[in-house]
Order: sequence, then C-alpha cells, then structure tokens
Amino acid sequence: MIKLCLARELPLINGALDEAAASLPEPVRPVARHILNAGGKRLRPLLTVLTARLCGYAAGDVYKLAVTMEMLHAATLLHDDVLDNASHRRGSPVAHTLFDVPTVILAGDALLAVANALVAAFGDARLTLCFSEATSRTAAGEILEIAAKGKAEISAAEYEDIVRGKTAWLIRAACELGALRADAPSPLVDAAAVYGENLGMAFQFVDDALDFAPRAVTGKPTGGDVREGKMTFPLRLYRLSLETAERAAFDAAFSCGLMTDNDACSIADRLRESGCDARARDEANRYLEAARAALRLLPDKPERELLRAMCDYVRDREK
Ligand code: IPE
Ligand code: IPE
Ligand code: MG
Ligand code: MG
Repeated sequence: MIKLCLARELPLINGALDEAAASLPEPVRPVARHILNAGGKRLRPLLTVLTARLCGYAAGDVYKLAVTMEMLHAATLLHDDVLDNASHRRGSPVAHTLFDVPTVILAGDALLAVANALVAAFGDARLTLCFSEATSRTAAGEILEIAAKGKAEISAAEYEDIVRGKTAWLIRAACELGALRADAPSPLVDAAAVYGENLGMAFQFVDDALDFAPRAVTGKPTGGDVREGKMTFPLRLYRLSLETAERAAFDAAFSCGLMTDNDACSIADRLRESGCDARARDEANRYLEAARAALRLLPDKPERELLRAMCDYVRDREK
C-alpha cells in the first residue's frame, strides 16, 4: 500500500525537490545534489503530503512545503555524518569525504536557510515556527547525544530524550506542517503531531536495531554506533546481558573509543543472536501503538490507512 502511494507521490516530491534545489546558491549545489540524489526514502515529505490530504487540503503547493522537510533532513544528515565521523551512507561515501568538512557544514547551513525561506514564503507564521522548532530541537538532540558519547551507563530516559530530539521532532514537524497547511482545527493538528512524534521515536529505535544488520542490507557499516560510542536501546540490552568481567572490558573499550571494526562486527553478531535487536523493534512497537491511537482521532479517509500502514512499514523496515 505504501509502495503504491510512493509510486504516485515520489515523482511529484522529487520534481518539487529539484525545483527547490535550483534556488540554492551555486556553490552549495554539488553538495546538495550529492545528498539529495542519493536514494533517500522521502519519508518526511510523504508524511507532510499525507497529513495535509488527510486534513482536507487539495492544492498542489503542498509538495513545495513538503520538500522543505527533506531539505532539513538532508542538512541534518550532512552535519550528522561530520559529527559521527561516518564513512558511508546509503551505500556511498559521505559528503565530507568527497568535499571538505567546512564546505559540507556550510552547505548544510545554506540548505536550512533556503528551506526556511521556502516555508516563510507561504506567509503563515505557524508553518515557519514549526520548521524552526524542528531545526532547533534536532540540533539540541544532537548536542545531547554528543554529551553522552562514550557513556556506557546512560539511562533509558536519557536515550529517549536524545532520540526525541535528534529524530522524532523532525518527523513530528513533517506531520504537523501538513495539518497546519490544511488549516485543520487544533485537536487534529495535535493528533497529527503526536502521531508523527511517536512514529519518529519508533523510527529511530528500529534504526538503532538496524545498526547491527549487515552493511549490504542498510548501506551503513555494521555496528557504527558501537564504534561511535553511542549507547542505544539494543546496545544497552546487550551490555546488561554481559557477565561482570566482560561488561567491564566492554565499558573500557566503549568509553575510550577503542572499539575496532572487528569488535563492532562480533558484538553485532552476538547482539542479534541474543535477540536484542528484535527487542528494540518490540519497544518501537510501543510507540507505534501510541501513533496508531493518535490516528484514531483523525478523519477516517484513505490517507489514514496509509499512515497506519506507515507504522507497519517502520516496524518491519530493513533499510
Ligand atoms: C536517517 O533517516 C537518519 C535517521 C533519523 C535514522 P532515513 O533512514 O529516513 O534516511 P534516508 O533519507 O531514507 O536515507
Ligand atoms: C539520526 O542520527 C538523526 C540525525 C541524522 C539528526 P544517527 O547518527 O543515529 O543516524 P545515522 O545512523 O547516521 O543515519
Ligand atoms: Mg549518524
Ligand atoms: Mg548521529
């Protein structure tokens, strides 16, 4: 169902994205092309389109609004890959290994600024505020994550705060933006936002499970979070399952950033064998239940079924 919907919407989203990218300053375009044309799933703009339609908005300019979410997403990925010292994304080398780090950081800034201007051009301060909030919450989440880097004993609440900031807010905003553009009554805007936030939480929990999947499946190196010192939900479970001496050795290597590719791969094998990744998907499903509950407050239309199918997609996704 989602695939059919994507087949219909994707050309329109990509067309609007090309148009928006053309308004970027010329020096920014090669970096923007690299990140925007690398095969992203376009999940966030699709959510804006679906929530707007669900709330009764029929006009074609929704694509112009929707792609600002993909631009914001792309900017966060550019910055995130620098922060994480990542090597590959979507099966290709990351931008800052093809261009230089300052160029990539500044290209990310320009993407944010142009996307912000495209939202402002709609002349509705609520949309601009929603976009700004998503930008600052994402940055704040990334800062929290950096502060927790190498900390093996991070609490579940700390981890949730990080995830809510770095991932869920943007997905929340993508849904809220659609409902706002449709001028939906505030209980519906709130329901769309709550749906998005919970879908976003689940999305990152599953992403953290997928971190331990083979690189051929995800396009990202296996166990990247282990090497990057990121204590995620499945990795917390794995660590807690270790005997005292083994746990101490794990903590020492993890906190000093001494995990090698080999360590990361063997941890990934054991973590999958003990089902810690599957339990992260179960945990994601808790958030998806809250997302489905929020959906029940929204109009009973075909788009609601698609948003429900999106929950199943997020739970089961392999990339
Ligand atoms: C990657 O998001 C960053 C996270 C929030 C985990 P996506 O998995 O949606 O990235 P693309 O755009 O489809 O590659
Ligand atoms: C995802 O962060 C959120 C952002 C990109 C802001 P991660 O660092 O967990 O995502 P990947 O694994 O690089 O896609
Ligand atoms: Mg990263
Ligand atoms: Mg990161």
